[in-house]
Amino acid sequence: MILFAMESSCDEMAAAVVSAENGRFEVLSNIVSSQIAIHALYGGVVPEIASRAHCESVTAVAGEAVEKAGIPLSAVDAVAVTFAPGLIGSLLVGLSFAKSTAAALKVPLIPVDHIRGHVAAAYIEHEDVRPPFLALVVSGGHTSLYQVEDWTDFREIGCSRDDACGEAFDKVGRVMGLPYPGGAAMDRLAAEWTELEHNGAKNSYSFPSPAVSDESYDFSFSGLKTAVINTLHNEKQKRKTDDLPREVCREIAGAFTRTVSDGICRKLNAALRETGAETLVMAGGVAANSHLRAAIGETCRRRKVRFAVPSLPLCGDNAVMIAAAGYHSYLAGIEADSSLNAYASDEGSEACVAALLEIKARTGTV
Ligand code: KG4
Ligand code: ZN
Repeated sequence: MILFAMESSCDEMAAAVVSAENGRFEVLSNIVSSQIAIHALYGGVVPEIASRAHCESVTAVAGEAVEKAGIPLSAVDAVAVTFAPGLIGSLLVGLSFAKSTAAALKVPLIPVDHIRGHVAAAYIEHEDVRPPFLALVVSGGHTSLYQVEDWTDFREIGCSRDDACGEAFDKVGRVMGLPYPGGAAMDRLAAEWTELEHNGAKNSYSFPSPAVSDESYDFSFSGLKTAVINTLHNEKQKRKTDDLPREVCREIAGAFTRTVSDGICRKLNAALRETGAETLVMAGGVAANSHLRAAIGETCRRRKVRFAVPSLPLCGDNAVMIAAAGYHSYLAGIEADSSLNAYASDEGSEACVAALLEIKARTGTV
């Protein structure tokens, strides 16, 4: 079947056309229009500006996806769209466009949860990945660990109790003076520090672990974030400048990144041991982090666990992942009608999908 998919939950407007057959995917087009340059001026995403910019780009992005795919619109069998969680104004733009598209083409409309979409990004390039598996989603808005029992059966077994992992990267990056979003620039700074460490340098900073010190699989990034930001402020005061030298930034970035990956690996080790999972999927924007990929890859190698992580372009927000999740939702009978709404939170989206499945079971239709 051919899926047309849309994603607009935050500051990326994305559309894709994906062919899916027997659990295998062929990406026919993948268009992502980023607003980073706009929001960088404010040091973070401004929700109203994001939805207005989506409004301007949605038609062109969708059109480009169809054109690049080289298929007639009549070949589309279903429309998949992110309906939650995210910025409500941003979600509504993609959702409304997708609803109109599905209605005009007279094809099913498939609601997709953004977080499950991130996990599904791993199916595109790793065709052997199938449930059951553990999934770690690390993004700008989420840090969650799921036991995935079936393609549409996710149970959250751990999460951040406060800030998301990506949020910590971005806020620390901002105080360091890095351009928004700070994650990728922090990755490069930490890589410079790793290089120095290979030549014998010792890190003089230490920060509190984001792994909550109890039996849960939960995280807390707010204490770590505050400790690093306080350290940066102290260093600025000591030097009487807002522009910290690169050698200080790289050492702090190195210590922060090591603390994040050690904390995540600690909880993952426990979860892998206690669940007996044989596969771990890591997804979301922060899954692009080279240090995290290496550390978690090593954890899995030692435990003889299959590690599946999307390639870098599929870690951040995109619509290919929404098509992959939408395909499995479609097979499970998750379909919406034209009254589908957007939800800012996970709870809203879970209740909505449960209601859709209940109607389907009761009436055989949506
Ligand atoms: O999944 P995503 O594109 O959007 C959300 O759903 O939130 O994730 C964006 C986050 C941002 O916080 C960004 O700084 C972070 O992913 N990020 C990284 C890297 N690349 C992107 N964080 C650490 N290292 C990276 N290489
Ligand atoms: Zn995302």
